[in-house]
Amino acid sequence: MSIGIEAEKIYKSFGEPAQIVLQDVSLSINVGDFVALTGKSGSGKSTLLYIVSGLDFPSSGDVKLSGKSLQQMDSKELHALRNHSIGFVFQFHYLLPELTGLENITMPARKTGNHKQVEEYALHLMDSFSVFHCKDKFPSQMSGGEGQRVAIARALVQKPKFLFADEPTGNLDTSNGDKVMDIFKKINSDDGTTILFVTHDPDYAATANQRIHMIDGKIAEIS
Ligand SMILES: Nc1ncnc2c1ncn2[C@@H]1O[C@H](COP(=O)(O)OP(=O)(O)OP(=O)(O)O)[C@@H](O)[C@H]1O
Ligand SMILES: [Mg+2]
Repeated sequence: MSIGIEAEKIYKSFGEPAQIVLQDVSLSINVGDFVALTGKSGSGKSTLLYIVSGLDFPSSGDVKLSGKSLQQMDSKELHALRNHSIGFVFQFHYLLPELTGLENITMPARKTGNHKQVEEYALHLMDSFSVFHCKDKFPSQMSGGEGQRVAIARALVQKPKFLFADEPTGNLDTSNGDKVMDIFKKINSDDGTTILFVTHDPDYAATANQRIHMIDGKIAEIS
């Protein structure tokens, strides 16, 4: 079993005087794992998720993805990693309002120049997430659940090794939240995508292989 995500002695502080938000956080997640990150509001979940996904940097400590240290990568390597190996889903979908559903999903591929090849895969994802009918719709014409499923398709279109999600069901009703979790389970088991997601919902946390619980910027329990 190889290690997918590794964090070693992460500290993060903000501001002056420094407010310590993450304190001595170490974790290790195997390739193919499906892990929930839980904890009260303000416990540091989003901050940790941003740091292990390379969207933000720790004040000290090291993060490795597939054995490669993010701190040692230059900006070109980091960009390549973000574009090819990492998918990120936010609580609010942040689709671009002036682009259609399909255009939003193929956006990440435009940057890497394989736009045409991914269009077919994007349509396949839309179909399997029940949002094929949103192909030519703009985000303002989609429901919250549809928008979130389009955003998940966007995060997956490059077939990333890692999917990070910050309360992906936080703004959805139970039925749409369940659909999102079903999609996560399916891509985890079918494609072996390693998933780390933040949730406040104990039922969703229970469906993960592992739960990492945070209290006051520290890992309190792994179960
Ligand atoms: N950019 C920032 N500048 C200053 N303080 C920050 C910043 N980002 C987060 N914090 C602080 O760090 C702490 C942890 O925030 P974080 O967003 O990680 O919590 P969380 O566990 O995700 O909470 P929630 O469940 O409400 O989303 C909070 O006290 C927050 O105010
Ligand atoms: Mg948060």
